[in-house]
Amino acid sequence: MDLGIRGQACLIVGGARGIGFATAEALAREGAALALADINGAAATASAAMLAAKSGAKVIGLQVDVTNLDEVRRMATEAEAANGPLSILINSAAVLDDKLFVDSKPADWKRMIDVCLFGPMNVIHTVLPGMMERRYGRIVCLASDSARMGQARLSYYAAAKGGVVALTKSIAQEVGTSGVTLNILSPGATNTELRNDREAKMRAEMGEEKYARRQKAVLRMYPTGRLGEPEDIASAVSFLVSKNASWITGQVISVNGGFAMP
Ligand SMILES: NC(=O)c1ccc[n+]([C@@H]2O[C@H](COP(=O)([O-])OP(=O)(O)OC[C@H]3O[C@@H](n4cnc5c(N)ncnc54)[C@H](O)[C@@H]3O)[C@@H](O)[C@H]2O)c1
Repeated sequence: MDLGIRGQACLIVGGARGIGFATAEALAREGAALALADINGAAATASAAMLAAKSGAKVIGLQVDVTNLDEVRRMATEAEAANGPLSILINSAAVLDDKLFVDSKPADWKRMIDVCLFGPMNVIHTVLPGMMERRYGRIVCLASDSARMGQARLSYYAAAKGGVVALTKSIAQEVGTSGVTLNILSPGATNTELRNDREAKMRAEMGEEKYARRQKAVLRMYPTGRLGEPEDIASAVSFLVSKNASWITGQVISVNGGFAMP
């Protein structure tokens, strides 16, 4: 399917790796001009160079900490200076913090909310006015099924993602007639470094036998019998940012192998 995004400027925040980068690969194949922004600026630059060489698309890497509004504004200015006015924004940056709530501290909650909720707020607040003025835009925020189902040991991550869902839906209502759509992509467990780092810690803590039992129990929760790959998420994000998705806004789209069917 032609997504109708050839030449469109696209900003992917948290784009150096994982789901953000897989989405960049998918959009590069469709001819979008990409900016990959990440707190790890060196990784963003390296990923951008690799993708540009592989796909022939225009791809730049930028450094940004989404918790800092000044940095976010600079990032957007640099992205637009390179590729033109932004038509597509994907908010993929996140951190995880695997802890029981009773063992966590206010500083842990603050960092999580700063990155995972204030981050998307900072970026959308910066990019949205231009899109509204040009009467066209596609925004996708990555949330998580943990926001809808709850998830033990990820309470404040799930809370931040619940905030992202509410934020995105509310803005979608405010700007519905402006030609800008905002949607939420809610992945199930997906094979990225974010998840794999947490799994490695669990494996070390639990030992091989208990961890193997846990793995089997997790897989049983996925009717498709496997966890997600970044490309599974990227293909759904690609559709949501396409011209064809103009009547889809304020929706939570779960891409989760059937894990949650609310
Ligand atoms: N992988 C999963 O199982 C899974 C499940 C549900 C939801 N998600 C969501 O999908 C999105 C992508 O996750 P992923 O698995 O690809 O993670 P990832 O860790 O592979 O990628 C996230 C990127 O965000 C960047 N980042 C972190 N803090 C930042 C900050 N302050 N400013 C800018 N960039 C920052 C990281 O450097 C990293 O490159 C996230 O929003 C995550 O919460 C992932």
